[in-house]
Amino acid sequence: MNQYIMKNSRRIQAKGLFDYNIFLIGFMGTGKSTIASELQAKLEMDRIEMDELIVQKQGMSISEIFDEYGEVYFRNLESNTLIELQKRKQTIVSCGGGVVMREDNSEHMKKNGRVVLLTAKPETIYERVKNSDERPILNNHMNVAYISSLMEKRRERYEAAADVTVITDGKNAAQICEEIISRLIALDNQQTRANQP
Ligand code: S3P
Repeated sequence: MNQYIMKNSRRIQAKGLFDYNIFLIGFMGTGKSTIASELQAKLEMDRIEMDELIVQKQGMSISEIFDEYGEVYFRNLESNTLIELQKRKQTIVSCGGGVVMREDNSEHMKKNGRVVLLTAKPETIYERVKNSDERPILNNHMNVAYISSLMEKRRERYEAAADVTVITDGKNAAQICEEIISRLIALDNQQTRANQP
């Protein structure tokens, strides 16, 4: 009984904690989808997987879209999806790993949300994605050296877009979520203080 009450009161406290969208960004394999699901359960917010939305709309897999129409076409779909998502409220959005490559995309995200960057070492990423054949960007380049160099190329973009950065190496999903939540609360409090006369 006690446990039941505790669980529910924690839920009530968590619900409505953030009145904006939370965008999870980061390189492939940093755990955006896993963390989005875990955050959704904790915060009782809606959740959207950008890639899944694109797949549903196009009726094609990400690999098929890349093969048939190329990367620029896919990036346009991403940007359009982000613009549509501006209508959403209190939604956790797990973004595709390349979303930050267009500067406009960061602006779309920041209009009604905070951007959380998840990071991991190239070795960790490799272990997480090595058996995936649904990541056309890594096709024929599935190795630590390539992952590391692509990460380095993108690093500046990721960092510029992020409101909060969380390192995921060696942490479980619950720990990562706790960190995201407390960092966002700190950011909100900081902003409230700054806006006070
Ligand atoms: C991409 C990451 C993928 C997907 C597409 C391109 C990228 O998403 O959007 O294959 O350029 O980093 P995940 O980060 O969910 O794997």
